[in-house]
Amino acid sequence: MLKALRPKITAIISDTNTSIDGRLQGICKLLKESIHYYDWVGFYFKNGDKNELRLGPYAGEPTDHTTIPFGKGICGQVALSNENFVVPDVKAQDNYIACSINVKAEIVVPLFLNGENIGQIDIDSNTPDPFTNEDEKLLEFINAEVAKIL
Ligand code: SME
Repeated sequence: MLKALRPKITAIISDTNTSIDGRLQGICKLLKESIHYYDWVGFYFKNGDKNELRLGPYAGEPTDHTTIPFGKGICGQVALSNENFVVPDVKAQDNYIACSINVKAEIVVPLFLNGENIGQIDIDSNTPDPFTNEDEKLLEFINAEVAKIL
């Protein structure tokens, strides 16, 4: 059950001895290690006043896509739509930025601070069509927790 991870997330968020980036990194690592179909987990945040996302803490292989313009790829689309984007098959997407040839599916959930879409959590999976509503609920919970410390 993905719900069982919630207390661990809350514990990481509450650890004021660790920097904010360190805590976000801890969440990425926890998710990647706990959920077998999470192969890359990262946060992107709006870059100041620019209409682009910058990569924040992540767990998994390094990616070339450290800056993503709004509108581009799944992440860039979520920056504009303010809605969760679940992609069961990345090959079926025209507006998609490939990070690794192994990735089969992706989920991106926006992160709101005071009602404003300021970033997102992005998961890549090497398993086809692995995400359910439980993943969306967990990731929404995480982003709401993260917003409390930003
Ligand atoms: N696939 C994403 C780009 C980010 S990587 O998955 C880390 C996209 O299409 O926006």
